[in-house]
Amino acid sequence: MSTAKLILKGTEHELPLVEGSEGEIGIDVASLRATSTAITLDPGYGNTGSCQSAITFIDGEKGILRYRGYPIEDIAKEASFTEVCYLLIYGKLPDRQELAGFEEKLTYHSLLHEDMKKFFEGYPPGAHPMAILSAMVGSLSTYYPAWSGAEDVDLNIVRLLAKAKTIAAFSHKKSLGQPFIYPRNALSYTQNFLHMMFAVPAEDYEVPAVLDRALNLLLILHADHEQNCSTSTVRMVGSSQANLFASISAGICALWGPLHGGANQKVIEMLERIRDDGGDYRKYVALAKDKTSDFRLMGFGHRVYKNFDPRATLLRAAAGEVLDELGVDDPLLEIAKNLEQVALEDDYFIDKKLYPNVDFYSGILYRAMGIPTDMFTVMFALGRLPGWIAHWKEMREDPKGRINRPRQIYVGATRRSFVPLAMRDGGKAPEEVLEPVGAW
Ligand code: ACO
Repeated sequence: MSTAKLILKGTEHELPLVEGSEGEIGIDVASLRATSTAITLDPGYGNTGSCQSAITFIDGEKGILRYRGYPIEDIAKEASFTEVCYLLIYGKLPDRQELAGFEEKLTYHSLLHEDMKKFFEGYPPGAHPMAILSAMVGSLSTYYPAWSGAEDVDLNIVRLLAKAKTIAAFSHKKSLGQPFIYPRNALSYTQNFLHMMFAVPAEDYEVPAVLDRALNLLLILHADHEQNCSTSTVRMVGSSQANLFASISAGICALWGPLHGGANQKVIEMLERIRDDGGDYRKYVALAKDKTSDFRLMGFGHRVYKNFDPRATLLRAAAGEVLDELGVDDPLLEIAKNLEQVALEDDYFIDKKLYPNVDFYSGILYRAMGIPTDMFTVMFALGRLPGWIAHWKEMREDPKGRINRPRQIYVGATRRSFVPLAMRDGGKAPEEVLEPVGAW
């Protein structure tokens, strides 16, 4: 394959090109520093490929998203979330037997060690469930510390997928002061989560099919998105050979921020703010455009998608159906639709290619499903688990894998003489302080 030529201070450097299976081209700069002493600088990493990966393909200009080659639209229509977990993590669609075996393991590992329940007693009632999820996923490494081979890894992968949903549901119950509801082996992965979230011991609870379908779709659409902030964090932490639970716990923290997975919570808070302020959504569109304000329309814009976010398209259609079926009449949805319409017709949003992203509609759906706002990002994390795990596994199985350690361009002070504390206030240093400094 051809090379790229870089002329640096008069010297020519030839850099190999790497071509992906979908024709994407990267300039391999791995040898650049050794041959030139220069590095590449790309704050925010918008132009930097951190790895080669065979898991997910995105074409942000064309609005394409594929898991292991399969279009997200087909997966969303045909697959279950557990099938998608298997596909992402093991690289192939499971056959019936493989899927049944995988689902059985997920079912039988969904209980938490009873001692872990005591952790919940230590959190204050208003504790954010993302903090609980991250801390408890990290704590799983204290119960399942083994890392001695592929079998251990596979078992820990199953434990993580199975127990994370139990932790998430228990953190919701803790916030309500209700008893924890244990998983039931007769239920599917998604049904079990809904059961643990919404059942109470005093009554029978049957998981409504519409909620199960919606949850399955939401989890699938969040399952992977290549090298985003949280997945890169999982790879960064995992590159030091930190264990699976520690690496995923770090990814959960990265996801929490409002510019990433935390945006779904912020969308609802923004819509509530507009509602409480009289519903004048145009005022907030104007505010988002005003460069003197730091207000942004949450749920709009994406680093990669500059056309449309295919996940948002699927969720938008589902949101209408689910809300109709549930008979939910939510004034926030009306504001959301108006906001979307205005923003899509406004030159500012058109010029900057700012479209509603997945978080814009997921928040509305979760709200309609009865999931409280501060659980939204936890729901995102549950969906993203298989993607994080797949990337962690791919990285750890790469024989050429190295610890991730970026460089920097230093812009601080050049060498200067150290000033002893006694001399820093501009006054003359007392004699007794000056003498002994550095004397030994
Ligand atoms: N509202 C108003 N203006 C916006 C918005 C927005 N939501 N998003 C971007 N812009 C503007 C920026 O001010 C900037 O304008 P400028 O060129 O005049 O300076 C321009 O559009 C480009 O924005 P950047 O912040 O440079 O784009 P970047 O790729 O770094 O950020 C991000 C992408 C973080 C998603 C951004 O669009 C944003 O903050 N959106 C709101 C938060 C959100 O919805 N996050 C969820 C993302 S999806 C996910 O993580 C699953």
